[in-house]
Amino acid sequence: MKRAIVSGVGHYLPARIVPNDWFATFLDTSDEWIRSRSGIERRHFAAEGETTSDLATAAARAALDDAGLKPDDIDAIVLATSTPDLTFPATATIVQQKLGMTRGFAFDVQAVCAGFVYALANANGMILSGQAERVLVIGAETFSRIMNWEDRATCVLFGDGAGAVVLEAGEGDGTSADRGILATDLQSDGRYRDILQVSGGVSSSQTTGHLMMAGKEVFRHAVDKLAAATLSVMEKGGVTRDQIDRVVPHQANIRIISRTAAKLGLPMEKIVVTVQDHGNTSAASIPLAMSVAQARGQLKRGDLTVTEAIGGGLAWGAVLLRW
Ligand code: UT7
Repeated sequence: MKRAIVSGVGHYLPARIVPNDWFATFLDTSDEWIRSRSGIERRHFAAEGETTSDLATAAARAALDDAGLKPDDIDAIVLATSTPDLTFPATATIVQQKLGMTRGFAFDVQAVCAGFVYALANANGMILSGQAERVLVIGAETFSRIMNWEDRATCVLFGDGAGAVVLEAGEGDGTSADRGILATDLQSDGRYRDILQVSGGVSSSQTTGHLMMAGKEVFRHAVDKLAAATLSVMEKGGVTRDQIDRVVPHQANIRIISRTAAKLGLPMEKIVVTVQDHGNTSAASIPLAMSVAQARGQLKRGDLTVTEAIGGGLAWGAVLLRW
């Protein structure tokens, strides 16, 4: 049977690195608080004029290089972001132009921090249905542009960055030994839309707005819902937790990551952690962590991998794949 297989991965981080101490120069906060409550030590912020599509294009080039492909080998770009360059066109089409890609189609997916999981599941569907053979799946964000710099409870948590994977159609036996995406699970519940949202928008206020979050409430939902989505893809894929080689979780908070792992009975040695270096980069966090993990030797061809994320919506989900 047909499978959507990862054939390349790459990432890009803006040059400016901002340590926790920087926030203490204008807010009542400390490196100690940020580190102990979130696990974050530093994050990258985009330079003035550097846009989400710039970050995405650099990550896409790295993923294409890793796959040994050129832009015109790609049939589709699916880009997950909540911080687009413009209201329209889709940031994916801007990336298409910047890559010099003259064929195929490109569109954005908006599911906030779960965006990359949603994009991956949709790209998988396009490959399995024969709409595309090779899909560039990107997560890219410039959350520094929607921070309220007076709100110490949120502005210390987020960063900018981009990651990308190339998904290619391949053949498998239809078992969990196949490489590629083995199962997906997407969920959302709009009853919780106001616990994590941005205060502006085109149709409501004609402003961009700032991020607002009821952190404790989001935290509570996160552990339960991420564990449930992970169990769901393991069950759909017919694998047990002992078979999982690697977990690439959304990088929001080390306490969410470790509590979810504990709930699932998965040891921390199996969990990829990059939150200390990137902060929460929303839809970029998973492909960024995948790319860093592959470079560290933590993610190897054939590894049974699960990835999971939750964010505004609430929207969440998980994907089981063999790397
Ligand atoms: O990717 C999307 C999903 N988002 C998330 O996963 C975020 C989920 N939530 C979290 O990660 C955590 O809830 C936070 C890191 C946001 C906060 O951690 P917490 O342990 O839930 O702390 P808290 O909000 O209960 O705040 C504890 C105290 C409060 O002071 P009082 O009321 O106890 O006096 C806050 O005002 O810490 C205070 N506080 C700070 N102190 C120093 C909040 N932010 C800061 C800060 N520096 N930056």
